Amino acid sequence: MPETQAEVRVGIIGSGGIAGLHADYYKRIPYVRVVAVADVVPGRAESFIQRYGFTGAQAYTDYRDMLAREHEMVGVSVCTFNQAHHRPTIDALDAGKHVLVEKPMSVTLEQGLDMVRAARRSGHMLYVGFQSRFEAGVMTARRIVASGRLGKVYYAETGGGRRKGIPGGTFTRQESAGGGAILDIGCYSLDTAMHVMGNPRPLTVSAYTGNHFGTSPVYSKQAWGGGVDPAKFDVEDFGAAMIRLDGDACLFFKISWAMHFDSLGRTFFLGTEGGLDMDAMRIYHDEFGTGAHTDVPKQGPWKDAWFRKVEAFAEALRDGGSAPIPGEDILRSQAILDAIYRSAAAKSEVKVEIPEI
Ligand SMILES: NC(=O)c1ccc[n+]([C@@H]2O[C@H](COP(=O)([O-])OP(=O)(O)OC[C@H]3O[C@@H](n4cnc5c(N)ncnc54)[C@H](O)[C@@H]3O)[C@@H](O)[C@H]2O)c1
Repeated sequence: MPETQAEVRVGIIGSGGIAGLHADYYKRIPYVRVVAVADVVPGRAESFIQRYGFTGAQAYTDYRDMLAREHEMVGVSVCTFNQAHHRPTIDALDAGKHVLVEKPMSVTLEQGLDMVRAARRSGHMLYVGFQSRFEAGVMTARRIVASGRLGKVYYAETGGGRRKGIPGGTFTRQESAGGGAILDIGCYSLDTAMHVMGNPRPLTVSAYTGNHFGTSPVYSKQAWGGGVDPAKFDVEDFGAAMIRLDGDACLFFKISWAMHFDSLGRTFFLGTEGGLDMDAMRIYHDEFGTGAHTDVPKQGPWKDAWFRKVEAFAEALRDGGSAPIPGEDILRSQAILDAIYRSAAAKSEVKVEIPEI
């Protein structure tokens, strides 16, 4: 690090799987130093510090001790499982730290609102880590829609689907993950579609969720990492929803961890002047019915979206910048996630209402 460059000191809360990527990327940024790591499992933070060679870093089992003692730490990565995003994020903001929280922002809309309120109250950054926002395809699609080239976008479909991809660990339990495929990977698809469409206000949601594979004695054995216990699998492995959006538009969403099919279809946007297939990055335009289309190169300034996500946090900490993806911007898609679960439980359409903050 050049002598004149100030050191940016950060900590990590939750030292499980994804924290390792934060650690790897922090190490690549010369002016960042990881000074503390907290994990509730005794010994886990210590071995994480050793594994990543964070010389001099302090290990904690209670992240609140870390927040109270690490006065020079300006920011934290919250890398806990979903149910533990809410409390540590709020405590960190209230302790005067900036926060990069892993996706999804929260489990419920209410938790997300609390987190955004804490950021406002503290004047500190709440940055939600959707690395997908830094992908060239997403950036290009956003630019195309914002340019008006598609006209008014009235319909979109989104959502990837794994044929055989039930994760293991903490992902398949309500008590830790708070939800299944929808919160784990569906949150990316929803965030991307909402972002590309300009973040329209959601009005209503009609949704279905299922868990036909994780609870099956046969298919649960095929989960990653040697299988899951079907008796303890209490989240969804499939979800679909129709979301009505302000401005007379509609979004169709589907996601799966497991299914007897190869794909749930492409991500695409239909507008009055053109249609965009985001997977192929192809615009279908003017000459209606003739099959005319234009392929668009994906343009984004960064090669590695994941690194950029962490680097953008470091830069904002160093320069006193604002959150690269503020919690406020995520509230509408978080409200949709919340409504999907409410609608699926009620087996009927539900309204989406986002209180003023
Ligand atoms: N951005 C991505 O590409 C990506 C990929 C995988 C996971 N994730 C997200 O990262 C989060 C963590 O996923 P993971 O795979 O690392 O899970 P994990 O279960 O491997 O790790 C979570 C860790 O948090 C610790 N923890 C839980 N509560 C805590 C608390 N109150 N204080 C301190 N430590 C606590 C656990 O002991 C565990 O070590 C999830 O929200 C997940 O959605 C993001």
